[in-house]
Parts: sequence; structure tokens; C-alpha cells
Amino acid sequence: MAKDMSYEGLNARKTEIMQAAIGVDYNAFELPGIGFDYERMMREAGYPMEKMREIQRSHAVGDTPLIELRNLTRLARRYAPAGKGARIFLKDEACNISGSFKARRASISLYQAKEKGYKGVICATSGNYGAAVAAQAALYGLKCIVVQECYDSRKVGQPEILEKQRICEAFGAEVVQLTVGPELFTTTLKLLEETGYFNASLYTPFGIAGIETLGYELVEQCRQIAGRDPDAVVCTNAGGGNITGTCRGVRKAGCGARMIGASIDLRGLHMASDHDFNRKSFTTGHTGFGMPFMTWPDRSDCPRNAARVLRHMDAFYLVKQGETFYITEALACLEGYERGPAGNTSLTAAFSLAPDMAILVDVSFGDGFGVKDHECGKMNGGTEIDLAPAVSRRMFDRLRKIAKEKEIPWQTHIMGGRTGTDTDIVASSGRGVRCGLLSIPLRSMHTAVETVCARDVLSTARLMAEFAKEVE
Ligand SMILES: Cc1ncc(COP(=O)(O)O)c(C=O)c1O
Repeated sequence: MAKDMSYEGLNARKTEIMQAAIGVDYNAFELPGIGFDYERMMREAGYPMEKMREIQRSHAVGDTPLIELRNLTRLARRYAPAGKGARIFLKDEACNISGSFKARRASISLYQAKEKGYKGVICATSGNYGAAVAAQAALYGLKCIVVQECYDSRKVGQPEILEKQRICEAFGAEVVQLTVGPELFTTTLKLLEETGYFNASLYTPFGIAGIETLGYELVEQCRQIAGRDPDAVVCTNAGGGNITGTCRGVRKAGCGARMIGASIDLRGLHMASDHDFNRKSFTTGHTGFGMPFMTWPDRSDCPRNAARVLRHMDAFYLVKQGETFYITEALACLEGYERGPAGNTSLTAAFSLAPDMAILVDVSFGDGFGVKDHECGKMNGGTEIDLAPAVSRRMFDRLRKIAKEKEIPWQTHIMGGRTGTDTDIVASSGRGVRCGLLSIPLRSMHTAVETVCARDVLSTARLMAEFAKEVE
């Protein structure tokens, strides 16, 4: 009898299809009740560190350089409070054969597939991982199918993902392109069953173990270059494999560094939404993957996800798309490195870990014709010290105290919602920045006769200077 290839039929056979396509008996690690012996799974399915390094070295993976970013460190220190602003090092994973750390994952999976006699591999991914699997498949002489979600329902493609199709095909892989939605998983199941290929999922124990070499290497290199262990390791976080594998490698090297995950803040843009799909500048390393995978890792394309973020992450930082583009440019202009932008999310977080308070200056509507009194600042009334949800009450009180003590002319400006200034963004950057906001009243804003009072500009500058002296 022909097999039921419908959505329901395929999903009903999910466990047996996966068992055949990965070769790991996940049931063996289930504990009575709700427990799951994660560490035993990693021990038994993975390989010892030296074996993995050997496999990777012989397939152009690993041994990537660790580079000290001296100019970026100097820049961070200019804005960091005294004693803060750590030395920033970058592990240049773009030096792997397929251009990202995903090569580490792919190499151990493909080694496993070859050892177990599979004829080919399949992976469901939209980005760097597809290129990594396709490149390793070429090296191992295995067939490769990459299943991508790359269009919205109007067939508008995401440019970064379409570009990855070209790369996968260049390595000889077949690329199956889908619209965003649940068919990614079902199509992958169908292809696995039809072909009998290995499931080179991002989340098998082999894939995650392959990243352990990254963490191990970076500790070794840091000891060699800086003579000490890193205090913190920041990883761009999406599905969680990067931070899980890196953390495991860091610990295997005997290092207790704080493990920090960093994602781009795309709250409100759902990863599986047709409407939101093409509104993102980044296809990975964002909260659309970061949050769902962190809170429900077993939503993955294998029975148990070996990427367990909450076991391995000490802190989670959010950065903005714009900040990441800024750091991408800064990396090129200050350090001569043209990399990213996807992987630069972690560098952006490493850079912005330094500041923990900020004063922002903008203009507000000054009094004049057609503006209601309670909606504007008084021209020549002094600097406006603002209070709004994004402004820290402590910063507001401190600025008012200094203005009173130093007899700097000031006035209060209360805003109920958004400030309409960068404060709205800066306040929720990284782990949160305490913000103060000063405004200069501007008469006839957005016209050709915009006017400020020079005394208001001076009182704003004086208040900032007095505040800075106190912070020192
Ligand atoms: C360059 C880069 N960095 C980081 C990540 C995030 O890795 P993970 O999904 O394992 O958290 C990805 C994943 O797509 C990536 O391509």
C-alpha cells in the first residue's frame, strides 16, 4: 500500500523517519517522568575533542584566528565608565572553508553520515548552514539537498537567502525553495523518507559537538595571546547552537568565562510570519529565533534539540539592526575587516556592554505661534530636563539636582509616551542603559526659520559638563 504522504501522514511517522535519518536512539536518553539525560546524549553521540579537531582540520575547518580589535577597544573605552571597556577580541570564523562557524557543525555531521554509509544528506536551513553542509558534502563526495524557506506568499524572496541558494548550488547541492510556513519541516520529512539520506540537522548532538572546538580554541588562543582566560564570551544567538557548543568547548578547556548571548531585537517581527518575513534586514541572530528556541528548544527538526540555550547562557543582550550595521562599518573602517553583518551582532553587544548610562540631547518644540503652552518648552527658559517612560527617574533627579546646585537655568518637560528621540532606542539597548534626556526648545521646528535661544544651548552644554564632572 502506498504511504500516506499528507501532512498528517508524514508527521505521524516523524519518529521513525528521524530515527532512520539520524541514527541516534533518542529514547535511550529519556529518564522516567519528564527528565532527559542531556549530558549522556552529548557524551555518547559526540566525539572526543582531539578527534573532532582532527576531523575538522582535515576538512579545512577550524584553527581560525583570534584577533585583538585594538581600535574598537580604544573607541569603546572613550565611552565606558572608568575601569570598564574590556579588551575586545574577535574569533574570525569567516576563515572556515564555507565562510562561517557553521562549517564546524557540518563537518562532524557529514563525517558521521559518511561513516554510517549514507549516500547523501539533507538540511533545512535558509542561510550559512546550507552553504556549510553543501561544501562539506562536496568534500566527502555525498549528495546534498538543502531545503530553504525563502519567499513570502507573494513569491517575494529574501535577498540574503536567495544569495545562499546560489552558493549551495555552486557546491553542487540541490536546493528546494519554499515559502515561509510549516511546510519546511514536512517537506524535509518527505525528502528524508524518499531518499534515505542523513538528516544533517543544525540541532543533532553531532552538529552541536562540532562547535565545541570553537570554544576550546578560543580559550587556548586567548591564553597564548593575552596570557589569561577571557572574562566573557559573547556569541550571536539564534537557534542556540552557537552559544551551546561554544560554551561546552570553553568549559572543556577549563575556563569559567561568562557566556553571553546576543540577538538583534526584532520583537514584534515573527520569524514564521508571512507578513513580517521580508521586513527584516537580518535572516539570523535575531529574537525571532532567539526567543522561541530558548524557551522551547524541542520545536526543532530532530527529536531532541542538542542546543540548550538556558543551560549554557549567563546573560542575554539585545542590540538593534542599525547598531549592528554601525559596528559592521566601524570594523571595516577602524580595523580593516570586512565581515558580517550577521555575525557582528555579538561584536555589537561586546562593544555596547561598556556604557551603562547615557545623556541624550535633542530639540523640543519651543513656544511660539500656534503651539499650546503645555506642549512646548519656553524659549530662553533654560535647558529642558525631560521625563518619559524611557528616561531613568534617577538620571532625571540627578540632572535637576545639579541644575539647582549650579544655578543652571532649567525647565521640566514631561512626556507620556515615546520621546521621539534616540532615547527610546538607547534605553533598551544591551542589558538596558540608564538614560537622561535634555532638550533645547526650538521655535518653528521643521521650517526654514527654525530658531533656538543661544542661552538654552549654553545651559544644556553646562549641565552636561557638570554632570560628567560628577560621574568622574
Ligand atoms: C554567522 C552566524 N552567526 C550566528 C548564528 C547563530 O547561530 P545559532 O542559530 O546556532 O544560535 C548564525 C546562524 O544562523 C550565523 O549564520
